Formats: sequence, structure tokens, C-alpha cells
Amino acid sequence: MNAQTNAPSIPRLGNATGLSCRECGNTSPLGPYYACEMCFGPLEVCYDFPRLTRADIEAGPNNIWRYAALLPVPADIADRPTTQPGYTRLIRADGLAAELGMRRLWIKDDSGNPTHSFKDRVVAVALAAATEMGFKVLACPSTGNLANAVAAAAARAGIRSVVLVPANLEMQKILTTAVYGGTFVTVDGNYDDVNRLASELAGEHEDWAFVNVNVRPYYAEGSKTLGFEIAEQLGWRLPDQIVVPVASGAQLVKIDKGFTELTELGLVESKPWKVFGAQATGCSPVSEAFARGWDVVRPVKPDTIAKSLAIGNPADGPYVLDVVRRTGGAVADVSDAEVVDSMRMLARAQGVFGETAGGVTLGVLRKLLAAGQIDPDAETVIINSGDGLKTLDAVAPTVIVPATIKPTIEAFLAAGFESPALP
Ligand SMILES: Cc1ncc(COP(=O)(O)O)c(C=O)c1O
Ligand SMILES: [Zn+2]
Repeated sequence: MNAQTNAPSIPRLGNATGLSCRECGNTSPLGPYYACEMCFGPLEVCYDFPRLTRADIEAGPNNIWRYAALLPVPADIADRPTTQPGYTRLIRADGLAAELGMRRLWIKDDSGNPTHSFKDRVVAVALAAATEMGFKVLACPSTGNLANAVAAAAARAGIRSVVLVPANLEMQKILTTAVYGGTFVTVDGNYDDVNRLASELAGEHEDWAFVNVNVRPYYAEGSKTLGFEIAEQLGWRLPDQIVVPVASGAQLVKIDKGFTELTELGLVESKPWKVFGAQATGCSPVSEAFARGWDVVRPVKPDTIAKSLAIGNPADGPYVLDVVRRTGGAVADVSDAEVVDSMRMLARAQGVFGETAGGVTLGVLRKLLAAGQIDPDAETVIINSGDGLKTLDAVAPTVIVPATIKPTIEAFLAAGFESPALP
């Protein structure tokens, strides 16, 4: 039994050839399936990749569609109406590295995406696959950034969106979803409640593609493009270490998959890399499982200012544990106060204003450096996955806005602005 819909399977989606179970390896044809018919394990996309050169990729557009051959999307995807996410800045973070005592540090700044988070990547891939499979509506449960990305992508494609979020989200994320004009539902509950409701709705509406539920195998593949871009922007090299924020865990798992695929395709030289996961202490089920040596992740009730990462029952949690253990990395967590301190450090030392998830990631880098678990001399990339403008409340109480002065030199001098501000 394929537990999802009666929609027909499709023979081919670019170079994708089918779906395989991450638990038992059972394969099924491409289609709107997400759970294994044998063991209910999660499915992922398999491919028959063509021979591909760096030049082929470099000749593509300056967005994720330059990697279309490595994604489950139709070959003409670059010509369709999408938000064209990706190819965001990889910033050489010398100022921050100096402050942290590191040799070579980079920030992959995904706040530069069309709706200011990495979610535009996964949504664009989900939309492409969902359209091919005959879905008519783009939907999601979200912790905020996904809501923005789904509402915008559907508006761009001219289709309906249905977005569900916990009602207590940041006002910036509520407004920047509502503005796109789809069906927008704020729910009295936490993300895990919203996710349950979405799963029930997916069962009732066969032509609604819930990007992170019933088309999740395709959606998740979008995060491989973070790995592809990092390697390409480093001059077709892999970094030694990477620190990635973890909510469901899909982003971390797929960055690792992206590195693996580039290596297998001969597009980068084979070398070891370590993957580190970052959580906020108020929602740290994967970090706890890592610390205790568990293979399973025990769900928690989130309580943290890092609302975008507040998933208490992470679907990819066990696979995050696999990746970090296999590569010699770790998962760690930091308090809300450390998150805010790191958001401010990122802004002050490097000129990048990341959202709370960025503060979590830098906070964990600092913590693991102090613990000797991250090598300060090894080349390191950290992900800034979202924009600080969406989580202003997190920093508002700690940022000092000076008093207003009269427009005179005397007032300027009297207010003490001749000397530099204290850090
Ligand atoms: C800004 C930001 N970073 C990271 C994540 C974590 O992504 P994942 O659920 O793939 O672990 C999210 C998820 O919502 C997010 O919004
Ligand atoms: Zn299975």
C-alpha cells in the first residue's frame, strides 16, 4: 500500500528515476509518496546522473537551477515561473575568524534568498516536482520561514497556497506571509500541533502538495544546493568542517548528501569533512540524543526564542545523528542568551545580521571551539539560514539606540559622539 494518494506515478523527473526507503532500501516509482510501503520509513529520491562537468554547471543560471541535473525537476525548470532562489553569497569571514581565533572561516549567507531564508530552495524544488505530479495547491505547516517561501512561490507560479503556522510566531513572519495573499491559517498550538493538522489535511485533499509532508522527498533535495554552492564557491573544493542549524534536520542531512554526490560525480576531490549540528537549548532533542549516545530522538516541547528551529519532534533527527557520527562531527546546543550574543557578534564582527537560527549556529561554533571539538585551524563554513529583520524582537532588548539630538555640532559633541561607540 502506498499510504498517500491515488495520483498516478510519473516515469521521470529530470534525472531522478525513483524513490527508495531510507530504512529498508525498498524502491518505488516516482510519485507523490513519502513513506515506504514495506516499513513506513521515509523515502528519498534516487537518480541516474549523466556525466556532468564543472563547465556544464558554470554555464547555468545564477540560481539553484544551475544544478537542475542533480535535482528531481524537469529539464526546462529554469524557464518556468519560480522565485529563482540560490547562489547566495559565501562570505570570507576574516573579522569573525580573528575574533574567534580561527584560521579560515566562511559564512554561507542564505538571508540573500528571495524571501530571505534557505527555505526558498526547498520550496522551489517541491513546487517543480508537485506541478509535474498534478498537484494544484502548494501548502505547508511552518515555523515561519517556510510560510514566507511557500506563499511567495505560489504567488509567482499563479497557484493557490495554504499555509499553517503557530499563532505565536514573530509578527515579521506573519505579515511577510499574509502579504502574498494565499490562504493563511494561524493555529492556537505549537509547530508539532500544526504539523499534525497538516498531515490530516493532506489525507483529505489529494491535490494539495504539503511541501514538507506529502512531497517531502522532493522538497528536502533542495537543500543539497547549499552543499553544491559552497563547494563551487570555494573553487570546487569541500570545506573541512561545516556547522548547520537543525530543526527537522533535513537541511543538515542534505548538505552532506550534496557533498557526497559531488565527490561521486568527480566534481570535487575526495576528502573527509565533518558536519556539526546546532540547536537552541530550549528545543534540543537531537543534541540531547547525541550527548547521550542514543539512536532515537526523544520529542520535546519547545521553549526558545529561536522559533524557526522549534520543532520538538524532528523527522530527520536520527539521520542527523547518523551524519554527524559518520563524519566525526557533533550536535550541541546554546541558551537563548547565547543566541542573542552571537547574533550581535555576527553583525558587529562581520556585518551580517542573521536571524535567531544564525545566532544558534554561531553560538554552537563558539561552544564547540571552546570545548576543543572544532579545530580552529581547519577550513570551516557556517550557515546563516535566515534574516535578522524577521526576528527583531530577539535583539531589541539588548541593542542601545542613542537619544535623539538637535541638528547642531554642539549637540553632537555634547552627546559624546566624537569617540567610537563601545562594543
Ligand atoms: C532559518 C532556518 N534555519 C534552519 C532551519 C532548519 O531546517 P531543517 O528543518 O531542514 O532542519 C529552519 C527551519 O524552519 C529555518 O527556518
Ligand atoms: Zn522501508
